[in-house]
Amino acid sequence: MTVPILRNLNELRAKHASWVRAGESVAVVPTMGALHAGHLSLVEAACIDCDRVVVTIFVNPRQFNNAADLANYPRTEHQDAEKLAGLDVDVIYVPDGSQIYPDGYATNVSVSGVSDVLEGEFRAGHFDGVATVVAKLFLQTGAHRAYFGQKDFQQLMVVKRMARDLDIPIEVIGCPTVREPSGLAMSSRNLRLSAEGLDRAAGLYPVMQQVAARLAGGEGFGPLADEARSKLEALGFADIEYFDLRCEDRLQLLQTPTRPGRLLVAAWMDGIRLIDNIEVPVLND
Ligand code: PAJ
Repeated sequence: MTVPILRNLNELRAKHASWVRAGESVAVVPTMGALHAGHLSLVEAACIDCDRVVVTIFVNPRQFNNAADLANYPRTEHQDAEKLAGLDVDVIYVPDGSQIYPDGYATNVSVSGVSDVLEGEFRAGHFDGVATVVAKLFLQTGAHRAYFGQKDFQQLMVVKRMARDLDIPIEVIGCPTVREPSGLAMSSRNLRLSAEGLDRAAGLYPVMQQVAARLAGGEGFGPLADEARSKLEALGFADIEYFDLRCEDRLQLLQTPTRPGRLLVAAWMDGIRLIDNIEVPVLND
């Protein structure tokens, strides 16, 4: 069944009002389109949990640090709508720029702390753009629950903090990373890798898993990280921007996973920047 595409906030509000009048729960799945199985897994989770599901597609200019990256971002609305037609989605909200940033728009949402490290160090202003647009999408859709991927773990933490701090009555849910059979985390950026780059990039996940297993065995993170960086360089990764062990909630550095932790990495392959992260089991002393 084709899913209605709404481009206008007033139409979306009218739908929302009728759902809420009927006592129905509403989910939102924010995306920038170019949908793959990772995105669709969020939509599936939303469909299971909630009566009504809104998928948003908006390539948000404020979160790009680089004009070329924004211009080259894939826009595949027709194919996206076809993929969503197979699922139980009620509305695809595709706002044009004026619905999100009308003339005179002047407000920025900035989350300190969790935004400052990792991606925040390498992509200045990125999380302000994310927090701003996600706050708007939460308020525009009036959703009760929102679904995000753990693939972008830091983004998930930023969004959770933002919703709590601004008292937006929404539950933010993190869903597991969907991977290719090779182990490579699904991402629209993978399409830009050569066949050889794809093969080499698949080596990242096993390296992370080995580190997580050895941390669980009691080894310290420092030497493990040095060894992992060398392995990644041997695989052909250039410029490993970070390979960090951090606590889940506040993303502070850890030496041993005495609290729920995450191994997070950003590195370049074939001129493409890839990010990934995995959970690290808590070490009981
Ligand atoms: P986008 O990159 O389109 O991702 C939309 C959602 O899909 C995010 O929550 C992301 O974490 C999730 N996702 C991407 N790849 C995934 C994978 N392999 N497994 C599971 N989930 C995956 O992230 C954004 O858009 C934007 O920053 C947005 C939140 C929409 C704000 O503009």
